[in-house]
Amino acid sequence: MTVRAVVLGVGHYLPERVVPNSYFETTLETTDEWIQSRSGIQQRHFAAEGETTSDLGTHAARAALADANLQPDDIDAIILATSTADLTFPSAATMVQSALGMEQGFAFDLQAVCAGFVYALSTANALILSGQAKRVLVIGAETFSQIMDWTDRGTCVLFGDGAGALVLEAQECAGNSDDRGILSTDLNSDGRHKDLLYVDGGVSMQTTGHLRMQGNQVFRHAVEKLAATAETALTKAGLSSEDVDWIVPHQANIRIIQGTARKMGLEMERVVVTVQDHGNTSAASIPLALSVAKERGQIKPGDLIVTEAIGGGLAWGAVVLRW
Ligand code: UT7
Repeated sequence: MTVRAVVLGVGHYLPERVVPNSYFETTLETTDEWIQSRSGIQQRHFAAEGETTSDLGTHAARAALADANLQPDDIDAIILATSTADLTFPSAATMVQSALGMEQGFAFDLQAVCAGFVYALSTANALILSGQAKRVLVIGAETFSQIMDWTDRGTCVLFGDGAGALVLEAQECAGNSDDRGILSTDLNSDGRHKDLLYVDGGVSMQTTGHLRMQGNQVFRHAVEKLAATAETALTKAGLSSEDVDWIVPHQANIRIIQGTARKMGLEMERVVVTVQDHGNTSAASIPLALSVAKERGQIKPGDLIVTEAIGGGLAWGAVVLRW
């Protein structure tokens, strides 16, 4: 018998404040037309003053637990993918653990920027397959509004805040690609590109810092690397693009999403797109998109899903799972 990490529940949370592109027309030299045509973004949510990443993550975690019909004490581990933890330490994951009233298990943050959620899914899968955890709450939560340079039109119009979460459970399966759950993962990074997307602050600088990005350089890497990692993950699972029901990509830019789908030979009808409503929410974008896609009735039990993401590092990867 093979054990797999199967999705039991999904949920998300978006802060109340919605900011349309027109807001930036009043603060910067930009237009709604430029933002939409270059990125596909129409609006994003920003956290309220004092609302932190762990607050957003806790809301999403509660929604995922309710969807799974589980209590916090049913969970063995929390992995929170984020680059915007409330404090340098302790982890935002332990803050979520405390807010949920969970007094057992273990919790930690995972930082792989926009690829954080695929890294977190892969880590949760490894914990489950090695028998170290039976049920894992995997959260992606971010408040990128805290690290924006509001005078840099090349970045501040692109990002948003939000959180999404999945509950994964160890289940015995037949051991073939018809199984539900995570079927394969593929992770990559290349630190030679660390200067393309970074935050100019941190412990060594004694500041929080602001996000800096050479957008067009990141763009150049994105489509090629995302299509390649998705195809590698599919091959590892013994599958190909033809078997895919849904691509659930990191939501950074509609042109990257379209380019990757094209390279994989997939129609846009099979791609979950939320970038217009959320902007780029970094590690939160994939679980947010999964949760919204379930609400929309797009993804259904048994569907084969490929998630893929790339971000600072550069770090990128893909996960193939059957819903
Ligand atoms: O999630 C992590 C991974 N990140 C990404 O995947 C982001 C990848 N990159 C992108 O999404 C795109 O590169 C951007 C949306 C950031 C930019 O689109 P682009 O087509 O690559 O534009 P560009 O950076 O080459 O800039 C084109 C022009 C520049 O003007 P000049 O130098 O040609 O005169 C920019 O100054 O657009 C200008 N520009 C703007 N104009 C109006 C940059 N930002 C803005 C703006 N409004 N907000």
